[in-house]
Amino acid sequence: MRPSMFRSVQSAVSRTSSHLTRRGYATEPVPERKVAILGAAGGIGQPLSLLMKLNPLVSTLSLYDIAGTPGVAADVSHINSRSEVTGYAGEEELGKALEGADVVIIPAGVPRKPGMTRDDLFNINAGIVKSLATAISKYCPHALVNMISNPVNSTVPIAAEVFKKAGTYDEKRLFGVTTLDVVRAKTFYAGKAKVPVADVNVPVIGGHAGVTILPLFSQATPQANLDDDVIKALTARTQDGGTEVVTAKAGKGSATLSMAYAGAIFADACLKGLNGVPDVIECSYVQSNLIAELPFFASKVRIGKNGVEEILGLGSLSDFEQQGLENLKAELKSSIEKGIKFASQ
Ligand code: 2OP
Repeated sequence: MRPSMFRSVQSAVSRTSSHLTRRGYATEPVPERKVAILGAAGGIGQPLSLLMKLNPLVSTLSLYDIAGTPGVAADVSHINSRSEVTGYAGEEELGKALEGADVVIIPAGVPRKPGMTRDDLFNINAGIVKSLATAISKYCPHALVNMISNPVNSTVPIAAEVFKKAGTYDEKRLFGVTTLDVVRAKTFYAGKAKVPVADVNVPVIGGHAGVTILPLFSQATPQANLDDDVIKALTARTQDGGTEVVTAKAGKGSATLSMAYAGAIFADACLKGLNGVPDVIECSYVQSNLIAELPFFASKVRIGKNGVEEILGLGSLSDFEQQGLENLKAELKSSIEKGIKFASQ
């Protein structure tokens, strides 16, 4: 858990106990926030539900899946943290799960098996995302949507098209979660640079699949003079991080625990932004005009009360990164177009 998140969890626990032992003691006002997780009974959904239950910024935690959510909800609801938890199962309960949500996190869908790319999930996950986005446009059109379902490079454009058709699209409120790429880049960099991982920052731009994931190690802090071949290897490992987990799990799915952690970090950033915390900056795959031919692109964004408040520039890129940027354009463009085409059928 990121130190600041850990501190906020600790302070939630201490706030809970001071509230219980000293009734009437004034606690700082924390806005009511409903977070809905769609796909909450799945491999990512369950640990994500746990982590969001630990987040003191959440007052209502709504866990939706096609089945299994009453059990997950009963389980996490026993944890003595702030939020009330409800499980919703089956499409007929989706509306109730979404009503009034401030943040909707979508890890729903199927994961990769060895040998598959994220795009191989398109046929199943695109339809799931389309129907969930349709429900969001109906029941909580103002929520910040955090898309985890793969292929993120296409599912975000799919959701955008669905929202456009429904007349509810606000590009500031739709985010592809690329935080796991940042988490991986930080971990791998810290290992090679021999610096404390908690101090490390690495922006990751582009998209969330293979070569479209472009970590900017030239901007990593603390700086370290790593050789070019080390940077190359770190870049490849970050790009293949998801595949590394898929291979290690040998048919039992893809990253769930680290993905849940990353999803929780990103949702926490959205809640802080909504609550007016200044300077909340995370990398995310959003509608963007940074690269002319790519209507969706991951970069650092500032998150505020209305969602994306500012898309930050890319900063200066090394020659290697500039080449990486050129190399990712064709694949990312075609993934975006594939999503748009699917949604408009
Ligand atoms: C990953 O990068 C699941 O897409 C996710 O591992």
